[in-house]
Parts: sequence; C-alpha cells; structure tokens
Amino acid sequence: MNWTPKSMKSQLGKSFLVTGANTGLGFETALELAKHDAYVIMVGRNQEKLNQAKEKILESVPDASIEIGVLDLTNIKSVKSFADEFVKTHASLDVLINNAGIMFPPAGKTADGFETQFGVNFIGHYVLNALLFPLLKNNENARIVTLSSIAHKGAEIDYENLKLEKPFNKFREYGQSKVADLIFALELQRKISENNLDILSVACHPGVSKTELLRYDVPEMIETVDYMNANQGAFPTLFAATEELEAISGSNNSFYFGPDGKNEINGYPAPAFIEPYADNELVGNKLWEYAEKETGVKFNFES
Ligand SMILES: NC(=O)c1ccc[n+]([C@@H]2O[C@H](COP(=O)([O-])OP(=O)(O)OC[C@H]3O[C@@H](n4cnc5c(N)ncnc54)[C@H](OP(=O)(O)O)[C@@H]3O)[C@@H](O)[C@H]2O)c1
Repeated sequence: MNWTPKSMKSQLGKSFLVTGANTGLGFETALELAKHDAYVIMVGRNQEKLNQAKEKILESVPDASIEIGVLDLTNIKSVKSFADEFVKTHASLDVLINNAGIMFPPAGKTADGFETQFGVNFIGHYVLNALLFPLLKNNENARIVTLSSIAHKGAEIDYENLKLEKPFNKFREYGQSKVADLIFALELQRKISENNLDILSVACHPGVSKTELLRYDVPEMIETVDYMNANQGAFPTLFAATEELEAISGSNNSFYFGPDGKNEINGYPAPAFIEPYADNELVGNKLWEYAEKETGVKFNFES
C-alpha cells in the first residue's frame, strides 16, 4: 500500500506531544503533523534548538500551531517538573509520541543512576507517560506511540545491569533500552485493555534512517546499509500516530509497525516483527514493577 503522509487525514483539533522534536525523526514527525493541521507540542532538552526547529517548521507551514516544552529525560526531577506544569496548563492530550532517544553515548549514568541509554530511552519516558496519562484518559481515541528499533531483536533486560554494573557494551545496552521500549508499549496496551480504557498503545520503528542518532559513534557497517532519509524514517511513527489501526495489528494483536523492506531496514509502514521475548506478559510485568519501584511513579488506570 506504500503509505506516505500524503494519505494522512487532517488532524485539525488534535494535539500531539513529540519528545525529541528538534531534530531527526521527531522533527520530521512534528513537521508532517503541522502540515496536517495538528496542534504540535515539540519537546526536547534544549530550548534554543527547539526554537530553531519551530522557526523551521513555520517557514514551510506559516499557520502551524506549535508549542514548545523543555525537559531532560536523564533526570526524573526534570521530567516531573515538566509534566506537573503541563497537566496544570492543558486539559487533555490526544497523542503522546515517545520519540527522543540516544544511541552509543560514552559509558555513563543518568542523574538517577541508570545507564544513560536505558535512562533516557525508557525510564524518562516511563515517568513522562505515567504523569501525562490522566490527560490521555480525558480523550476519546487517545494514543501513545513508542519508538523501538530493529535493535530490540535478541536483546533482553538484565536486571543486574540497568545501572551500568557491568563493563559497558554499547550494542548490548542500546538493545536493552530499545527492547524495554517495546516491552513497555505492549505491556501498556495489555493494562489499557484490562481496564477498558479508550487509549491505544502502539510501537513502531524507523528501520535505519539518517539522523543525528550517530552523533556519538558511527559504526563502520552503517555505510553498507541502504538507509532512509529522516522524513521517510518518520513514516512508521506518523502511521502509528494517525491511521485507523484496529484491522491491521500484527501477531497477537500487538501493534508494532516498521518499514516493509528487506530486514525492515527501509520501505513503507507495515506490521513489524516482534521478538517473542518482548511480547510476553511475565516479562512485561517484571519491567513494569521495576519501573514503578525504581521511579516511585505509577500509572493510574482507573477511568
Ligand atoms: N535513526 C535510526 O535509524 C533509528 C533506528 C531505530 C530507532 N531509532 C529511534 O528513533 C528515535 C529518534 O532518534 P533519531 O534517529 O531521530 O535521533 P536524533 O536525530 O539524535 O534525535 C534524538 C532526539 O532526542 C533528543 N534527546 C536526546 N536525549 C534527550 C534527553 N536527555 N532529554 C530530552 N530529549 C533528548 C535529542 O535532543 P538534542 O538534539 O537536544 O540532543 C533529539 O531531539 C530514538 O528513540 C531512536 O532510538 C532511530
């Protein structure tokens, strides 16, 4: 079907919060949503970069409705302070897009002691989602979209190594953070269904797309990969965030979309392969309980 944003309906009247919206896939996501009349909340850690990104969107969409929000996903306190203010100043939110991420930074820990990739890609987003959840519950057809990666394949959560207890292995630790994102999205959907809430939790991945993700470290193999530009890389996110999905879920009725090309590296949005480990209730519950205990933040599923 080769879905592109040209197929997207007008999103007038709907609000979308995109984390990591100043560059890469998040920027392209925000741009396409703005082109389709959405109200876009561009969130990132750097006010100046966000202002520049907003200006860039306004150059091509002069009447775009854009708001900016600043938070640092390496720091739970910062996420809480952003979310508390956001909940006070917004009555509802239609779509939350968990896009921000880092890959292969130097070995390090977040302010709260997590290995940096696990802390930014998963823990920071877990807290943000739990705190913004009341705004999504206030809406019909709300949606949460979480970006995972091909790198989730073969990765597992090592509870003895979420705080850099073992010698740093950039591939293993990145894979761990991205399988955590996928486990989170699928477990969230289970909990939403159990509680009969009108929200969809959908995961997606962008294959391999040229962005700033490799700013810390460029593996040599990348030049042998037929990667996509950042705009096409954002198609699975946009598809997951805006299309009618009920009829096209993948295995086990789980929602995970990625490019349909060979090895899901490039192409157009389609149901993507989910490693069985990631779509397992026991695995999901264990990660959920870990996040609740470690962050002290819980979702409220009561309607
Ligand atoms: N590109 C790919 O091929 C690929 C493949 C699989 C999955 N993904 C996933 O796609 C998502 C987007 O990545 P991308 O490729 O677009 O990378 P990118 O160009 O590097 O963009 C990452 C975004 O995340 C933001 N960010 C990083 N650390 C943050 C923090 N502590 N707090 C708040 N925001 C933070 C960045 O802000 P600054 O600019 O201020 O640092 C930037 O806006 C990530 O989740 C990534 O894992 C990408």
